[in-house]
Amino acid sequence: MTGTDTRDLTALEPRLPSPLQEVADGRFERHGVRLLLKRDDLIHPELVGNKWRKLVPSLATAGGRPVVTFGGAYSNHLRAAAAAGRLLGLPTVGVVRGQELADLPLNPSLARCVADGMRLHFVDRSTYRRKADPETLAALLRAVDVADAVVVPEGGSNAEAVRGCLALGAELGEHADVAAVACGTGGTLAGLAAGLPRGRRALGIPVLKGGFLDGDVRRLQERAFGGPRGAWSLDDRFHHGGYARTTPALDAFAEDFEHRHGLPVERVYVAKMLYALLALVQEGAFPRGTTLAAVVTGRPFP
Ligand SMILES: Cc1ncc(COP(=O)(O)O)c(C=O)c1O
Repeated sequence: MTGTDTRDLTALEPRLPSPLQEVADGRFERHGVRLLLKRDDLIHPELVGNKWRKLVPSLATAGGRPVVTFGGAYSNHLRAAAAAGRLLGLPTVGVVRGQELADLPLNPSLARCVADGMRLHFVDRSTYRRKADPETLAALLRAVDVADAVVVPEGGSNAEAVRGCLALGAELGEHADVAAVACGTGGTLAGLAAGLPRGRRALGIPVLKGGFLDGDVRRLQERAFGGPRGAWSLDDRFHHGGYARTTPALDAFAEDFEHRHGLPVERVYVAKMLYALLALVQEGAFPRGTTLAAVVTGRPFP
């Protein structure tokens, strides 16, 4: 095997536990609510945010085998998997949604994947949708020509990833009453909720439209822990039109938050979660004296 020994992840010097910072924001203070930022975006310069917690457990056991994973044209997960492959000395293959992209110049996100050594394989949307089906997956693995691969699902949410997020809840411990996280696949929420101590709860803000996540989080916990764990809920009102969609109100909010607090606000996930917290505080959703922890799961690209 080349590169870093995958078992010696400390060589990558992750900043763990990630910092927990209080921010002074009059809009929260007025309602008697404290806001803390759980800075997972500072864990590692390349395996940012929940990517360290979710990917490292799968890749640490890869033992030099190639890693095959999946994502869209701007996937944070694909970029993180490519970077992890380079850092850990593992070959990576990214199966990308959208056959038509094969004939276009690579966008900056996919170009970064390639620069990190990831081999890209473009597939049409219908094949992509069926990628978890065993026959489709076997055909895909034949097409990318890798034997004995570690297959990591889209968004990285396998049981190892969910268990990897337990530490996020444990680090927050008694510091916050409610821990909020933006949700794509729900894997981070599933692990966070399970890792929180009794009496604390997790709040998920889905960035996709559709309201399907409840069952997904349950299934992820079932697979990772054998049953439901922790207290969690979802608030489906803050997707702003769907994945990677935005609204003028969300843009203005994110820009203002950056100026107020000097935090680079990742727009696809983190902005929606912070926006939701302020809206909920203004609705009076949290009793006075509540401490909120907002998990900063990523940072803007590039
Ligand atoms: C920055 C960021 N935050 C949150 C998430 C959501 O994580 P999950 O898919 O575990 O719900 C992602 C997923 O890719 C992400 O990139």
